[in-house]
Amino acid sequence: MKQHQQKFLMTFMFVVFVLSTIVSANSFDLVQSNKKFLLAAYLPWFKVSDLQTYECNHWEWCGGYASVYTPLLGVYDNVNEDSDRTRRAHLMQMRASGVNGVIVNWFGEKDPNGNPRYENQGTHLLVENLPQEMGFAIMLDAENYRDAVNTNTSVRKERFLNDVRYLKSQFFEHPNYLKMDGKPILEYFRKPLSETLDNRTVPFEWWQQISDEVDFAFVEQIVDKEKEPNFFKFSKALFGWPEPTHDDPQDYGYYVIKHVLDNTLDWKETNDPDLSQNFTVITGIWPGFDDTGVLGWTCDHNSVRKINREVGNQQVLSKTYQQIKEYNQNVKSKFPNNYHKYIINTLQIATFNDWNEGSQIEASKEFGINDIINTATIAQDFGVEFTHLDTQHYDSLKKYLSILNPNNDHGLELSETQKIELENLFFAEKYDEFTLNIDRYFNDQVSETPFFKPFHSFLLILFFSIFVLMGFF
Ligand SMILES: *[C@@H]1O[C@H](CO)[C@@H](O)[C@H](O)[C@H]1NC(C)=O
Ligand SMILES: *[C@@H]1O[C@H](CO)[C@@H](O)[C@H](O)[C@H]1NC(C)=O
Ligand SMILES: *[C@@H]1O[C@H](CO)[C@@H](O)[C@H](O)[C@H]1NC(C)=O
Repeated sequence: MKQHQQKFLMTFMFVVFVLSTIVSANSFDLVQSNKKFLLAAYLPWFKVSDLQTYECNHWEWCGGYASVYTPLLGVYDNVNEDSDRTRRAHLMQMRASGVNGVIVNWFGEKDPNGNPRYENQGTHLLVENLPQEMGFAIMLDAENYRDAVNTNTSVRKERFLNDVRYLKSQFFEHPNYLKMDGKPILEYFRKPLSETLDNRTVPFEWWQQISDEVDFAFVEQIVDKEKEPNFFKFSKALFGWPEPTHDDPQDYGYYVIKHVLDNTLDWKETNDPDLSQNFTVITGIWPGFDDTGVLGWTCDHNSVRKINREVGNQQVLSKTYQQIKEYNQNVKSKFPNNYHKYIINTLQIATFNDWNEGSQIEASKEFGINDIINTATIAQDFGVEFTHLDTQHYDSLKKYLSILNPNNDHGLELSETQKIELENLFFAEKYDEFTLNIDRYFNDQVSETPFFKPFHSFLLILFFSIFVLMGFF
């Protein structure tokens, strides 16, 4: 083989290799992958080590237990180094629900006193345990930058800027990080729509300044166009969050979703006047809400807010989903030829495990795994791929998932016996067996790092063979 031929061949192989890498990188892109995403908000903030002290460990509030529900896993720790099993059990439950992206609520690298935040450690440890087919992204919580925490504006601003820099260096480059059009998404959690604007949250100028330095796709909690036109235009997607009222038992947060949907087309046209880009709205769905455990984050019973888990004999989880489904159907009939420019292809559940606000879908003593199954039903209806379920090696996992599989005889309608069987198998009495299966599942995942996906291995072998062959010429 002549030298220029060799060079050509090597270049060609290199390009194929790079392209294949780009293709696999796209699978976590909400826009470019053309996949449906089901995201779930995750709180890495539960500690059990100091349950006796009045430290913010999130299982205790104003002297009482901080939730109206109890996890099936028991009161757990998901931030310590030795809590991998809990985190893995969580990830397994999410996968079984069809969730393919975790949105981690994040409160900064350090607290206002400069001490490392344990929620940040929990975030790192969760990401380390992430199955290879699961995406993740950060939801930055405004809490850390509020003036109630520290009144010196320049100190708050510096903390904010440094936190975004930290996110870039620690997470944005991760192969599983969720993106929009190639940019890592950064969700911003700040205040309910009903609250008036104040100076507690991060000012727009700070966001603008950091976006000159760090590349990301800003994803805003629903924002009012009239009040905050800058944020409205700056957002690459919008998401909703449950907003319970204090007094209306019929209100399931309907108006929040309606607000997102009503603003969606307007927002699309504001941000993309030639409508050239496909479009992503990350809408929220939720099973309910009840912050009685934390007394509305005060110590006052009058501050409690609630969304019942059932309204009008219907589950709130499916009611919230129904609203989005109807929107998508309307868009399809309104824009038959270019509906994909408007259609919602990402759902975000609020939440996987917010026990404090009672909005969790995680398996509980009260509801068993009902919400996992209900979420899986929604995921399937919405069109989320369940490819990750192809984990043939583990009998219990297979058994569990075959019952979730709608193609089996029973569909998703589980008998009471099946439900109890599942719960025993995965969450309760046979907890040791369950965690053992999880360990095996994850160990298998770990040995198969993204770099050694089958296609890459094939290319590497091909590459290597060509090298060897060229030695003979
Ligand atoms: C705020 O903090 C900065 C940096 O530590 C300091 O230079 C400045 O004097 C502080 N401002 C006030 C009003 O305390
Ligand atoms: C910000 O809030 C504080 C406390 O509520 C208030 O004293 C201050 O005047 C506010 N600053 C601005 C610029 O609105
Ligand atoms: C937009 O979505 C459609 C349908 O999924 C797809 O065919 C098209 O390639 C997408 N366009 C872009 C720019 O991603």
